[in-house]
Amino acid sequence: MQVKKSEFVKSAVYEKDYPEELNNMEFAFVGRSNVGKSSLINSITGRKKLAKTSKTPGRTQLINYFKINNQFYIVDLPGYGFAKVPKAMKAEWGKTMERYVASPRKKLVFVLLDIRRIPSQEDMDMLIWLDHHNIPFKIIFTKMDKVSNNEKFKCMKDIKKKIEFHNDDVLFHSSLNDTGREDILNYIESLLNK
Ligand code: GTP
Ligand code: MG
Repeated sequence: MQVKKSEFVKSAVYEKDYPEELNNMEFAFVGRSNVGKSSLINSITGRKKLAKTSKTPGRTQLINYFKINNQFYIVDLPGYGFAKVPKAMKAEWGKTMERYVASPRKKLVFVLLDIRRIPSQEDMDMLIWLDHHNIPFKIIFTKMDKVSNNEKFKCMKDIKKKIEFHNDDVLFHSSLNDTGREDILNYIESLLNK
């Protein structure tokens, strides 16, 4: 699939503020703060500054809707697990993200995991929760530019001690060199118009 057009639609906190659903399901990105959700959105849309990114965790604090090819939405969400943020703010963004995930919107949730990190309790809780509620999800390992091919398999082995997945069922991505961009877009395309 080619991304011919990508545009920011709106930011939202509560469900009443989400845009009206399109004919297609929407694609949301969840994961720890700093895992690379916003960078990945910029990579797949080919737009360097569509979604705001930052070295400091907690950059994305609202739900941001982007419309792709006038056809479907992708949704950038606040992250979880950021350490250096006051508790009240953490709770606020966390709730914004959780409300979205729990909402009845027709969606596929991409769960982003840093290839170099052992999944946190929050990562595991998210996966269990999605599974329990039968919300379709797909794992994407991010920051693949940071590991060699050998390291990749060692990291996956370590991650498998915490979470179950088949190597053929997951996607890999790097925002630095756009590795895996096509695979993600093809996967999205396979779910459109269904
Ligand atoms: P929050 O909005 O805080 O939840 O974070 P986020 O998940 O949206 O992360 P963001 O895309 O803002 O990226 C966080 C940091 O990681 C930035 O400094 C990015 O440049 C860096 N980063 C993101 N993706 C990659 C990647 O694929 N490779 C490398 N090397 N760095 C990356
Ligand atoms: Mg972000």
